[in-house]
Amino acid sequence: MSEQSPNPAVGSGQLAGRVAIVTGAAGGVGSGAARRYADEGASVVLTDISGPAVEAVAAEIRERGGEAFAIACDIADPEQIAAVVAATVQRYGTVDILANIAQGGLDQHKLLEEATAEQALYAYRTGPLQSMLFMQHCLPIMKEKGYGRVINTASGAAVHPTPGFSTYSMAKGAVMSLTRVASQEWGRYGIVTNTFLPVAKTPGFDLTEQGRAAAKQLVTMVPVGRFGTPYEDVSPLLVFLASEGAGYINGQAIAADGGLSLFT
Ligand SMILES: NC(=O)c1ccc[n+]([C@@H]2O[C@H](COP(=O)([O-])OP(=O)(O)OC[C@H]3O[C@@H](n4cnc5c(N)ncnc54)[C@H](O)[C@@H]3O)[C@@H](O)[C@H]2O)c1
Repeated sequence: MSEQSPNPAVGSGQLAGRVAIVTGAAGGVGSGAARRYADEGASVVLTDISGPAVEAVAAEIRERGGEAFAIACDIADPEQIAAVVAATVQRYGTVDILANIAQGGLDQHKLLEEATAEQALYAYRTGPLQSMLFMQHCLPIMKEKGYGRVINTASGAAVHPTPGFSTYSMAKGAVMSLTRVASQEWGRYGIVTNTFLPVAKTPGFDLTEQGRAAAKQLVTMVPVGRFGTPYEDVSPLLVFLASEGAGYINGQAIAADGGLSLFT
């Protein structure tokens, strides 16, 4: 199936009038989310460390009639995170949806015995810490309007760790805890926060030997019998969690993975 909507008008407009920030929007899951959010009527701010690549996705969305704006941002740098939120407010006046999808260090997978403190800190800085900073910068805006949808991206590796993904699994576990904390502290402001766990074929798997091996194995393990795609299989859950109808779903970890991981 195609990565792109066969018909930009296919969306039902359930995010019409909403403003969304999508991080990692040049990547597999992030670009699928950004395209789908735009197809559902949101104005989308796309960020990624790769400026030209994220601008290309935004340009494609605009060509399809969507509203999109790209900003290069290294999520390891707190000042760049602040700048993304400020630019979003300057351009669109608000933020309703924050989809924290990027994760750094996807090219540094290691066994625990080989992992360095530097790698662990980088996975943490470009995972739960940057997600927390994006959330904190969006908080005053969402709190004032009494509305917010925050989605953080974890991984089945946080709950069922696969050997070779040590610091990544640790960081993703912290992402899930971050979501739970926010759900308890921010729910009263009309802001709901959920963790999303995808499985889809993306360029991220091709960055390391461990990633390539995991991709081969996953194809054989997904109960629905195929490797999902970011746009068709994964982004519908991201749309739902970003929608008005998700206002009573808070602090949950929900997978779009064909049934690979069962969370109780
Ligand atoms: N694809 C899957 O099956 C799967 C499974 C579990 C979890 N995830 C999670 O989904 C998210 C997206 O992964 P993906 O598979 O689309 O990977 P991907 O490699 O295709 O995309 C990741 C994107 O993040 C960007 N990025 C990396 N470091 C960055 C930095 N320092 N600053 C800003 N942007 C940066 C990359 O440029 C890339 O565009 C990640 O959080 C990943 O851990 C994916």
